[in-house]
Parts: sequence; structure tokens; C-alpha cells
Amino acid sequence: MRRTGIVAGIGSAVPARTVTNHQLAERMDTSDQWIRSRTGIAERRVIEPGTSTSDLAVEAGLRALRSAGTDRVDAVVLATATPDHQVPATAPAVAARLDLPGVPAYDVSAVCTGFLYGLSSGLGLIAQEAADTVLVIGADAFTTIIDPTDRNTAPIFGDGAGAVVLRAGAPDEPGAVAAMELGSDGRLAELIIVPAGGSRQRSSGVPAAPGDHFMLMQGREVFKHAVVRMTDSARSVLARAGWPLDSVDLLVGHQANARILHSVAEQLGLPPERAFLNLDRYGNTAAGSIPLALHEAAATGVLKPGDRVLTAAFGAGTTWGAACLTWPDVSAG
Ligand code: ACO
Repeated sequence: MRRTGIVAGIGSAVPARTVTNHQLAERMDTSDQWIRSRTGIAERRVIEPGTSTSDLAVEAGLRALRSAGTDRVDAVVLATATPDHQVPATAPAVAARLDLPGVPAYDVSAVCTGFLYGLSSGLGLIAQEAADTVLVIGADAFTTIIDPTDRNTAPIFGDGAGAVVLRAGAPDEPGAVAAMELGSDGRLAELIIVPAGGSRQRSSGVPAAPGDHFMLMQGREVFKHAVVRMTDSARSVLARAGWPLDSVDLLVGHQANARILHSVAEQLGLPPERAFLNLDRYGNTAAGSIPLALHEAAATGVLKPGDRVLTAAFGAGTTWGAACLTWPDVSAG
């Protein structure tokens, strides 16, 4: 039988500090009512100065390892778009802090679809027999690249991380990904972009202005593409897995906007209550979003062993993807 990766543990981490909509409204022209009604977000978590993405990644990784009942894995994949440094990648530092020096460790950059790309990479390592166990972490600290006074982005993003441990197993086991799809369209790269900091800005020879290091987002356009791509990918993975729509117990989509998730559920024909939401408390945590939501859904009993879960994401790049799996009997702490 084909060898694949099985979800064997899950964990997450968020910073302690909460910033409410009311606090944001004190420093920009917005309101709690606008943010709640247009996004579903009430508050988000923000890292303290002196901490960074790797701190969240290590904490989520440790919890996932504990949930899997192990302290060893053969590889670490870190999905992030807010690495600690441009060079080197953040994953080796995370692996070292998890007391895993020597294992292959690398970053995957697909922004809000990052966790699904990272998951696919981890599954590939197992399928190739390059690893028997892989820690896949999604972690981002977008508040470090957001203009704190920009009402187009500051209300939307928060910091957070989630992680899963994959172990080698068979495709018919609970916890095996039944189908996955990934996609990209770089023609839409300008929709969500940080202009400075990369080789393009430097090669232009024009010094970056301070604001060029902040992320810019054309929210309305992103919204439209997100609904279409997430819905199409979700339909496609359900067809490939041979799962009828009414067999899906929970849609755990990328937590960008409650209206996006409700639109995806509606387009698919799923009742809105089957779309899991925790963005009210965390906002959009980019690559952290899906594993953070899966962990919370499992820890609170909303997602139970044996449930069929569908996940889908859309992000900068642009990138998108979906995956479906039967939830395994893992400890969610
Ligand atoms: N407070 C008050 N008013 C605001 C705010 C705000 N924070 N932001 C915008 N407005 C105003 C606008 O100026 C506009 O006013 P106007 O009609 O007078 O011009 C009005 O509200 C409507 O603005 P829209 O941009 O059309 O608002 P929309 O309903 O589209 O909501 C939002 C904006 C929340 C950003 C939404 O478009 C969205 O969620 N987009 C998707 C974001 C996303 O999915 N990102 C995921 C990928 S991100 C990544 O990968 C990093």
C-alpha cells in the first residue's frame, strides 16, 4: 500500500497580549462596529517587542510534539512569510531550539496558504522515505510588517502559530490526507505585497522609504479571488476524495474574514454552522491560521475523532489550496 503521512499530534501558540477593536479605533479612523460587521474580528493577539515568529513556532511545535507523545522528528518544515531574518531561514533555529539539531529544516513561503504548502511538503518527505516523522509548523507575526495606523490592514491581522506532527502510515488510516490541491497565480502578486526588503527593491537602486517595508493589500479584490479559489479547490478535493458534500462535518478554512468563510460554505452548499470560526479572537494569523483553528476545534470537541474535515486557504502570491482528512484520535491538550 502507498505510504503517506498521518496527523499524529497538534498544538498551537498565541502571544499573551490582546489588542481589541476599540483600542485600534483610538489610533485610526475605524470602529469596533465596522471591523466586526465587515470581518467578524473582535480582537487579535500581538507579539511583544523582543519576540518573533520563531518564539511562536517553537511553542506550537513543542505542544504538537507533546500531543504526539514524542520529542523526536526526522524533519521540520516551517511555513512562514514573516521569518526572523531574510537570511537564514527560520526553521533551522526552530529545530535547534526544539533540541533537534541535525534534522533537515526549511521554510516554505506561501503566505496565508503556507500551512497547506508546508503540509504537502511534509507529506512528500514521508512518501519519498526521506523521513518517517515530520513536524509541520505554520507561524506568522504579521503585526511586525503592518503599518499600525493603516486601517486597511491593521484590523485584519494578528500573530499566531499552529503545528502538526506527521508520522508514516497508510492512506486508509484516520489522519491521512484524503486529497489535496494547491495553486498559484503570480499575475495577481500586487494584490498583497511588501514592496521593500527583497532583491527587487534593492536592484532598482532606489532607497526604500520607511513605509515600503509595510504590507499593502487591495482587500476588496483579494476577497473576490479568495471566495472563488477556496470554493473551487474545496470542490475539487472533495471530488478527488469521493466525499459527498453532506459527509463533511466541519469546514476549517483559513481565518481571514467571516464573510469569506460563510460565502465559501454557501457556494459549496454547506450550512454556515459547519464553517468553524475563531478569527473573532485572533484575526488573520496567516500560516498559523489553519493549524490554530484545527487545534482549537479539536481541543473544544467541535472536531471529534472520525469527523470529516475540509480545509481551504487563499493568500498572497496569489496562492490557494484545499485538503480533506478524517480527523484522527489525537490528544489536543
Ligand atoms: N474602518 C472603517 N472603514 C473602513 C475600514 C476600516 N478599517 N477599511 C475600509 N473602510 C472603508 C473604505 O474606505 C470604504 O469606504 P468608501 O465606501 O467610502 O470608499 C468602505 O469602508 C468599504 O471598503 P472595502 O475595502 O470595500 O471594504 P470590504 O467590505 O471589502 O472589507 C476587508 C475590507 C475587510 C479588507 C475585506 O475586503 C477582506 O477581508 N478582504 C480579504 C482579505 C484576505 O482574505 N486576506 C487573506 C489573504 S492575506 C495574506 O495572504 C497576507
